[in-house]
Amino acid sequence: MYCVRNVTDDLYWVGANDHRLALFENIFPIPRGVSYNAYLLLDEKTVLFDTVDWSACRQLLENVEHLLDGRTLDYLVVNHMEPDHGASVEEILLRYPSVKVISTEKAFMFMRQFGFDIDGHELIEVKEGDTQSFGRHVVTFVAAPMVHWPEAMVTFDTTNGVLFSADAFGSFGALDGKLFADEVNFDRDWIDDARRYLTNIVGKYGPHVQMLLKKAAGILDQIKFICPLHGPVWRKDLMYFIDKYDHWSRYEPEEKGVMIAYASMYGNTEAAAQALAGKLCEKGVSNVWLYDVSNTHVSQLISETFRLSHIVLASVTYNLGIYPVMHNYLMDMKALNLQNRTFAIIENGSWAVKSGDLMQKFIDEELKNMTVLNERLSMASALLPDKAAELGALADAIVESVNQ
Ligand code: FEO
Repeated sequence: MYCVRNVTDDLYWVGANDHRLALFENIFPIPRGVSYNAYLLLDEKTVLFDTVDWSACRQLLENVEHLLDGRTLDYLVVNHMEPDHGASVEEILLRYPSVKVISTEKAFMFMRQFGFDIDGHELIEVKEGDTQSFGRHVVTFVAAPMVHWPEAMVTFDTTNGVLFSADAFGSFGALDGKLFADEVNFDRDWIDDARRYLTNIVGKYGPHVQMLLKKAAGILDQIKFICPLHGPVWRKDLMYFIDKYDHWSRYEPEEKGVMIAYASMYGNTEAAAQALAGKLCEKGVSNVWLYDVSNTHVSQLISETFRLSHIVLASVTYNLGIYPVMHNYLMDMKALNLQNRTFAIIENGSWAVKSGDLMQKFIDEELKNMTVLNERLSMASALLPDKAAELGALADAIVESVNQ
């Protein structure tokens, strides 16, 4: 059965929702599912913007066939060739052999690399600023390299103000009938998954997102809809989401607040994290969030690290090094280019307490534009009452820094 929704009078969402995929990119948990968005324009010419993951291809085909209602498909615009969107391209070519494919040089290269038989079809290679008319609608193609692959582009429909934004402005989470961001409580129910999606998938490429945002700023008054490849479509309050993207891609925190990420083997380092949290709240800083790095997926840790201004790393010493899960979290921060945070350190160990110095060295040498507070809580095995002054000094230093 087809399942489509109108975006505007002659533009339709023809994508699909996926609740069966456990791990997006086989790495990121998606307990709320994900949507693969594709859009069909019915103008003098019929135009499909992107396709879907192979697992959702049948739904896409039913949706497109229903709306075409006997017409043929004239154009396929491929903004992004990662397989969660491009895997069904070849099937569209088989079903609609006369379709003209519009995409970038690199995207056509990827299609061939993936083994798609495209060369018997009409391929229209476009680059920054090229335009195409489909009848009433005229679109402009805008390069968006590394948002999130090098071939990516976005397409702007100058007739109705629709920006087909590819991976930009996407989110984890299945739509389940609710197509528009204003049909859900986005700030309550979606923002965490949107942040987790962007920061983990495209976090490394903040400068490239900034370049795209600058291009969008030039036509901001003309953008009426943002149609991403995942998650809700935006038609109201666009600046709310654009502002979030601006913060994330500049590596600036959204909020002043403290994340305490702890690695604890027997509960003693966790007890120190809890004691610090209590002290911070007592001293008036209550935007405090505790995460056990062993039980929290690193993508969630990364998302929260992008959200908050201050990060406390509390780690046991393990094999004379940083606890492996904590080390993995730090490595992910480096991989995703996270910057501009203030850190504090709690270290623990029963004979050779090394984790504090090693975490400090990692932050100093491997991460960019970070500050580490001088105060450190160092403990041997457990936090005993003789450490109350050290704990208090650490809490005072964090509070002072948060309140700056
Ligand atoms: Fe949703 Fe980069 O693909």
